[in-house]
Amino acid sequence: MTSLRRAGILGAGSAVPPRVVTNNDLAARMETSDEWIASRTGIRSRYLAEPGTLTSDLAAEAARNALAHAGLSALDVDLIIVASSTPDYPGSFPSTGTVVQHKLSAVHAAAFDLGAVCSGFAYALHVAAQMVMSGANRHVLVIGAETLSSVLNWDDRSTAVLFGDGAGAVVVGEVSEGGYLGGVLGADGSGGPLLCIPRSGDCPGTIFQNGKEVYKFAVSIMGEVALQAIEAAGLSPSDIDFLIPHQANSRIIDKAAERMGLPREKVVVNLDRYGNTSAASIPLALDEAVQSGRIQPGHLLVFVGFGAGLTWGANVVRWGR
Ligand code: ACO
Repeated sequence: MTSLRRAGILGAGSAVPPRVVTNNDLAARMETSDEWIASRTGIRSRYLAEPGTLTSDLAAEAARNALAHAGLSALDVDLIIVASSTPDYPGSFPSTGTVVQHKLSAVHAAAFDLGAVCSGFAYALHVAAQMVMSGANRHVLVIGAETLSSVLNWDDRSTAVLFGDGAGAVVVGEVSEGGYLGGVLGADGSGGPLLCIPRSGDCPGTIFQNGKEVYKFAVSIMGEVALQAIEAAGLSPSDIDFLIPHQANSRIIDKAAERMGLPREKVVVNLDRYGNTSAASIPLALDEAVQSGRIQPGHLLVFVGFGAGLTWGANVVRWGR
């Protein structure tokens, strides 16, 4: 299908809860150390929500910031997609998207949740771009938001130290040049049990992870899918200004950058201060890099995510409008 419109990102925003929890804070309550966590993952601290803070609270705040950055109001939005593994209501029944729609008073917007865990933002951005390109929607809010602290087993040091809470959002709409240049999504459902929230077992309702297997999967897929997306867009890795990867583990990110032949200064990393915020991690890192002035109009960006499912996805975007 020939696209009639060009879609791009009009604005970005993010939100985190106020409480910072350092590795040393965690070491005071479980058998771990700053040295172990930092050397294995690159994480030094994370933001954790107070009980009672909902994913939709962080999502709505990030969305308001993205709308302000785009110079738009909630009334301009005609679709909201929330990528999250920690919806306000179990089973997204009703969706966190609709809760956010109400909190924003975005009365002209349809809303739904998208479940692809840590690949959720890459998936949702791809869907939003297609909606704008086809003319089905004018302004789509894409939000990655999580309160992962609510699904952590605080007696399992191998997972509890990895995750954090937060939200990132972008507004996708029509642009005159550049914008969304393409994306690649994938899944392998046979890997579902490697990383999941089991319904039964020792600690139902909290994250279980086979860390070693997930690590191997991540290292094999991350650079690869980013390269596929770059090639599909008719570009080469040397054209890339910034890689914004899912922030799970600095060793995984280093391996992806190495596979792509990208120097460290072209990779946006903030997991040392946020931990793994799942669907929120890419838009959080994007917003930080935009607000600091590191990302400028014309820059070519690649987002790449991987996660439970197993799922993966990458997007190529020329920043600017
Ligand atoms: N502090 C101290 N020791 C620990 C901790 C901790 N927090 N956690 C585990 N250990 C111990 C283990 O018990 C083990 O001890 P043992 O040798 O006496 O049995 C030892 O450290 C080594 O454990 P490993 O699991 O082998 O550690 P590894 O080097 O594999 O690192 C890690 C673990 C960091 C989790 C790694 O496997 C990893 O990064 N995996 C990928 C995780 C990931 O990216 N997940 C996100 C996916 S995205 C999504 O969809 C959510």
